[in-house]
Amino acid sequence: MPAGFQQLGGETVTGTLALSVFTAVLGSLEFGYNIGVINAPQKIIEAEYNATWVHRYGEPIPSGTLTSLWSLSVAIFSIGGMLSSFCVGFVSEWLGRRKAMLINNMFAFIGGSLMGMSKLCGSFEMMILGRFIIGAFCGLVSGLTPMYVGEIAPTSLRGALGTLHQLAIVTGILIAQILGLDSLLGSEHLWPVLMGLTIVPTVLQMALLPFCPESPRFLYIVRCREHHAKSGLRRLTGRQEVGDMLAEMKEEKRRMDMERKVSILELFRSPLYRQPIIISILLQLSQQLSGVNAIFYYSTTIFMNAGVQSPVYATIGAGVVNCAFTVVSLFLVERMGRRTLHMLGLGGMCICAIIMTIALALLESVPFMSYISMLAIFGFVAFFEVGPGPIPWFFVAELFSQGPRPAAMAVAGCSNWTANFIIGMGFQYVAELCGPYVFLIFAALLLFFLIFTFFRVPETRGKTFDQISATFHHSSAGGMMNMDMDMDMDMDKPSTEMDYLGEESIN
Ligand SMILES: *[C@@H]1O[C@H](CO)[C@@H](O)[C@H](O)[C@H]1NC(C)=O
Repeated sequence: MPAGFQQLGGETVTGTLALSVFTAVLGSLEFGYNIGVINAPQKIIEAEYNATWVHRYGEPIPSGTLTSLWSLSVAIFSIGGMLSSFCVGFVSEWLGRRKAMLINNMFAFIGGSLMGMSKLCGSFEMMILGRFIIGAFCGLVSGLTPMYVGEIAPTSLRGALGTLHQLAIVTGILIAQILGLDSLLGSEHLWPVLMGLTIVPTVLQMALLPFCPESPRFLYIVRCREHHAKSGLRRLTGRQEVGDMLAEMKEEKRRMDMERKVSILELFRSPLYRQPIIISILLQLSQQLSGVNAIFYYSTTIFMNAGVQSPVYATIGAGVVNCAFTVVSLFLVERMGRRTLHMLGLGGMCICAIIMTIALALLESVPFMSYISMLAIFGFVAFFEVGPGPIPWFFVAELFSQGPRPAAMAVAGCSNWTANFIIGMGFQYVAELCGPYVFLIFAALLLFFLIFTFFRVPETRGKTFDQISATFHHSSAGGMMNMDMDMDMDMDKPSTEMDYLGEESIN
């Protein structure tokens, strides 16, 4: 390990810490892999479904049935994710972070095997069931990995190591897109290997997890095992003296004990939380209904329809742009306000969607429009990673304190997966119906979310919970509808109170 890496942020990255983080983000890599993997081989697997149909019923599959079966194969992933993301809190407390990850791998193993063997068994049902189970695995990963990494990282490294989850997801998408090339694994005979390959990181993670320590924060705060927590901290930091970190955890435990846990129902009933939770839900919807997963699930077909010469390479291009801008956004998030970045991202995506529509509409008469539409999609993905990709999760974490946060996370996760399902399931139908104008729908949605963010979402960066919640308290009585009036009221207040509108105050 290079010395420069070891001394990151004044804290030593020990071998144990590096190993534990690496092991945990293998799950994120798999999450990304399963988002991207069904994109390139769509036509080949559809042909397989058709062949199965012919074999069973002696006639070609009706094209509507094929669309349904494929959309279901893509989208049922999100149903699995939605159901399991609700269990993250419960499972991680019951089994502990490490054992939960270990057992979660069973899902990946079963899901991967079902998908890998579906061709052999001539059964698209196995493929669909496999996608559902792997979706359940990914739902747990989306909660467990950031939790574990956040808990084992020393405070000064938490931000840097936390971003590895996001990076591993986009890397996983890119790997899946590259392996999906028909010269690699995206061919008629090898696509089952492409699907089953998700088992490899699973096995690796299962082999490595026993060498990773359980989260000391979990051991101490949830299980009250000070001794075990101490020895875990020693392994992770490489220091004998861990009193300061233990004291920090004691302080966190004290704060948690002070705050009552809030249930999901209370979140909607209490005027205190209603406005933040509605903002959180709408921001999650803005992430998924922006249409980015239409690109990650269906871009090869979209590029093909747009007349792009080698659609699979264009899909890989989108994956590269996605990775690059994830890195860019890691720097931007530290420097610019959340609200600014979110609006920048939404606005940029909206413009790209409009360019895409124009390019598709003119494709017949102006041949080079296929390049324009390709660039528009690259821009679409880039702007996504600047704003709607990372930002909604910051808001959930920052709008809620310890007590209501787990419930808020569950609600946010559920809305995210539900919207993900709607896009995965509906996109092909809507695309068939609207032809080149399908992206106008996303443009309209993006514009709506942009306006919503402009008028309703406060800036949270650099604010304490008290400051943020103060901005909601006096407006809570009337809920969402009164926000305009509240802004007017705010203008009479001293400037510190106005602060929440941040650098981009609407005045
Ligand atoms: C299914 O395969 C048959 C040939 O076996 C072909 O004629 C038909 O067009 C295919 N149907 C679809 C929807 O691809």
